[in-house]
Amino acid sequence: MNLTRKLETTLLLIVLVLSLGPLVWGQPLEETPQEKEARMQWWSEARFGMFIHWGLYALPARHEWVKNRERMTDEEYQPYFEHFNPDLYNPTEWARAAKIAGMKYVVLTTKHHEGFCLWDSKYTDYKSTNTPYGKDLLKPFVEAFRDEGIRIGFYHSLIDWHHPEYPVDRVHPMRDSKEFREQEKDRDVRKYAEYLHSQVRELMTDFGKVDYFFPDYSFPGEDGKGRDDWQSEKLIQMVRELQPEIVVNDRLDLLDKPWGWDFRTPEQFMPRGWVTMDGERVPWETCQTFSGSWGYHRDEATWKSSRQLIEMLIEVVSKGGNLLLNVGPTGRGTFDSRALDRLSAIGDWMRLHGRSIYGSTAAPDDLQKPDNCLLTFNPTEKRLYVHVLEWPMGVLHLDGLAGRVKYAQLLNDASEVRMRGRHGAWMRDTDEEGRNTLTLYLPVTKPDVEIPVIELFLE
Ligand code: GLC
Repeated sequence: MNLTRKLETTLLLIVLVLSLGPLVWGQPLEETPQEKEARMQWWSEARFGMFIHWGLYALPARHEWVKNRERMTDEEYQPYFEHFNPDLYNPTEWARAAKIAGMKYVVLTTKHHEGFCLWDSKYTDYKSTNTPYGKDLLKPFVEAFRDEGIRIGFYHSLIDWHHPEYPVDRVHPMRDSKEFREQEKDRDVRKYAEYLHSQVRELMTDFGKVDYFFPDYSFPGEDGKGRDDWQSEKLIQMVRELQPEIVVNDRLDLLDKPWGWDFRTPEQFMPRGWVTMDGERVPWETCQTFSGSWGYHRDEATWKSSRQLIEMLIEVVSKGGNLLLNVGPTGRGTFDSRALDRLSAIGDWMRLHGRSIYGSTAAPDDLQKPDNCLLTFNPTEKRLYVHVLEWPMGVLHLDGLAGRVKYAQLLNDASEVRMRGRHGAWMRDTDEEGRNTLTLYLPVTKPDVEIPVIELFLE
């Protein structure tokens, strides 16, 4: 072999090792903060996603925890499997509704705690293909949402109230039955974990690119389950190997590992401010329901109004977070009218005001929000968005902003908002307390939108 041939072979070997290495040895779980930020960029900019809780519990229509709450046996729950037939299921309609509402990603329950699977898994019979419906629900779902340009997320329950090897614990429907616990005491959580891992592998392999993963949830301690039961480290390692760009929630009980979670997930309440850990601001996403139930609930009446939901979205972004807003489709496979009403109202607002949401975050700390307002800020564009919750009489004063704003307009119609730093002795640039107040002169009539937004172009 001459020298050039030798060199060529060595080079080829190096290239091979570099490109195949990670596949053979596993992707390293370590990454720099910059790499992590880049991986999460689409998610941080998206700000608004749709959660979908769908399963057999749509039939009893009284909360997705019905099996647990009513302590049902498998036999008692079986009629829902035998009658599951969402004949009107058309994921393209769902994807359009999400798109029109302004949602940039979707997260669907591939399996909830009840154990029922929406796809044709090799590892179970408890799946949609064996119901009267007879078909896989997940493939068409993924295609429909991708076609609308919406990123794909899978929620997958760690908990399983149907699997025969899942040991009974404090949140299991059979928790109070001594006989059942005694009879089932030999269930082996390792066998269950194997099932869990195999299914997650299917989900991460058979559906193309998965952008987002929401395993749910850990409850370590007495009669509970946590990382050792799920074998969380191995699970997340596999997920990151199969989908290197995926973002993952914080429910695997791996909060002490930097690679064990990407964002925190406070649910069903509004955090006071940007969510922190050990004093540091961290990425966060709150998931919220329209009405208090995640699964379709026919009789639940505490539906939030469209206005409340829009305000919620703004408030979340003003605190640096994402909102994942849930729909519980019916047993026929449709979004009910209450959900559709709200999605379309949010969409009407988002069409005109999306600019204050996407790519925006909390305003710089030195800016105080005026009364009845919420601020968001787009750092790339250097624009500040003032969301005016109660339309004021004629003027709005913004402390600390005098001299820092080039131009101001209403976002809904791009009409100029005139600014002046001075209005006689009454409204001064710098008042006695040195607040550097900018005064905006607003129309008397509130613009005809749910929540008006003023866009300020900063110097
Ligand atoms: C909780 C509930 C569950 C719901 C989830 C959404 O963990 O168990 O029903 O799916 O929150 O975050």
